[in-house]
Amino acid sequence: MLFWRVKPLDKILETAGKKALTRQLGAFQLTMLGIGAVIGTGIFVLTAEAGQKAGPGMMIAFVIAAVVCALAALAYAELASMVPVSGSAYTYTYGVLGEGLAWIVGWALVLEYAVAAGAVAVGWSGYMNGLLIHTNLFGLVEPGALALPMALRTGPYDGGAFNLLACLISLVITWLLVIGTSKSAKVNAVLVSIKVAALTAFIVISLPAVQSENFEPFLPTGWGSPMGGIGVLGAAASIFFAYVGFDAVSTASEETVNPNRNIPIGLIGSLLICTIFYLLVGYGAVGAAGSTPMFAADGSALSPGTPEMAAACLSNAEALVCSKEPLAHVMRMIGFPGIGNLIGLAAALALPSVILMMIYGQTRIFFTMSRDGLLPDVLSKVHPKFHTPHVITLITGVFVALFGAMFPVGILADISNSGTLFAFIMVAIGVMILRKQQPNRHRPFKTPMVWLVCPLAVAGCLLLFVNLSLYTISLFFIWAAIGLVVYWAYGYRHSDLGRGVSSAQGETMKPEPKFHEGPHA
Ligand code: ALA
Repeated sequence: MLFWRVKPLDKILETAGKKALTRQLGAFQLTMLGIGAVIGTGIFVLTAEAGQKAGPGMMIAFVIAAVVCALAALAYAELASMVPVSGSAYTYTYGVLGEGLAWIVGWALVLEYAVAAGAVAVGWSGYMNGLLIHTNLFGLVEPGALALPMALRTGPYDGGAFNLLACLISLVITWLLVIGTSKSAKVNAVLVSIKVAALTAFIVISLPAVQSENFEPFLPTGWGSPMGGIGVLGAAASIFFAYVGFDAVSTASEETVNPNRNIPIGLIGSLLICTIFYLLVGYGAVGAAGSTPMFAADGSALSPGTPEMAAACLSNAEALVCSKEPLAHVMRMIGFPGIGNLIGLAAALALPSVILMMIYGQTRIFFTMSRDGLLPDVLSKVHPKFHTPHVITLITGVFVALFGAMFPVGILADISNSGTLFAFIMVAIGVMILRKQQPNRHRPFKTPMVWLVCPLAVAGCLLLFVNLSLYTISLFFIWAAIGLVVYWAYGYRHSDLGRGVSSAQGETMKPEPKFHEGPHA
């Protein structure tokens, strides 16, 4: 069953009509690419959720999540360099573990990309709402005059009714993708500078305000327990979201000069820099504002993104763990409201590009699955004028807008993490199987110490996965079960590979859309 309907790697490369890319990226550019793809809602927004889950212990959570990501990234990079075609983990699994598991990975990647896009949209909305509440538009209006009504600021689980801004930003980004907008290297450089400047300003201003008593008790919720979604490990499982995106570096191996040296530098370098930033931001936020979690009457810590938490926050609106824009909030709390607004502005400018990358990544996965016959042809239809896969982009965008409108950021991020962790586990297993099955295949990048790194990557991803909440884990399995039904009802019967039709032979070849090159391929 496992190795059933395996699509040979050579065929995958052939089907994709791989084009040669110029090798021009060095270690520095790769590191920038990684930082640009990684810094987003995780640090700007989930810091508050991590504080609720682990208190000051969230700093340990940042380190644990970074180590797991580094291990997974090294495994990911080997397959990405061997099979540099669209579809990422879905394609790699198809080539190693067969169609059934590839389908589940592709299905899980919907969680990684589409749900993550929803999470980032909610994060963006938190900062935009903060700006609307606090701005006076250079004296033109009274502060608060532009604020949206409470019901339109967050979704129903979070004390509101409909997150209007999260919905709108998702639809705008979807439209930009339909008409063919993509992220350019220049825009990336500008956005990296904005994000790094905002985090640096936060660190410089918050560190002098740190008070040691804010770190007591250091572990108010303990280490956590499996399926508890709380404690240091629960926070690590959530804050993992803050590092997602580093696969942008792995997938650039084809364009990298000396990938064996530069890919690990780019991956580990960007993860290291992000970790240092995250730790300093976490230290500054906790130390300056405190991060005492909210507890229920029975003494258990409340889960972020629940009506109970929203109710507790009504009377504790000043608490860091209640903020939807924690970094701006800390600045306002310690007497720097102007800097708080600027940080809000930086987040408002920078986060949409993360949404764009996520929706773009999703369309690429669906497109590849549709090209393999596992999803209906109509999904890989390309717009005659814009040359973009408009049907699948619109469908994805509408779902992202609905996720964003209805669900809290932390829940969306956790659900997204469940899919990503599952995909990374499959990738690390795939690397080991391929080393045994095809030891002589050319590997532009080889995972260092593969028999140590890959098992540790699997173990690390599993550790984080089981420390998500029971709710998230159940949703993951329900989603996987729905996926299997869809597979048996459609994909299994229509699969090009199953029907013995080779899309590489011409007759069923569907045109590759002229995607503008994007960071997630
Ligand atoms: N790492 C990205 C973020 O935090 C997904 O927004």
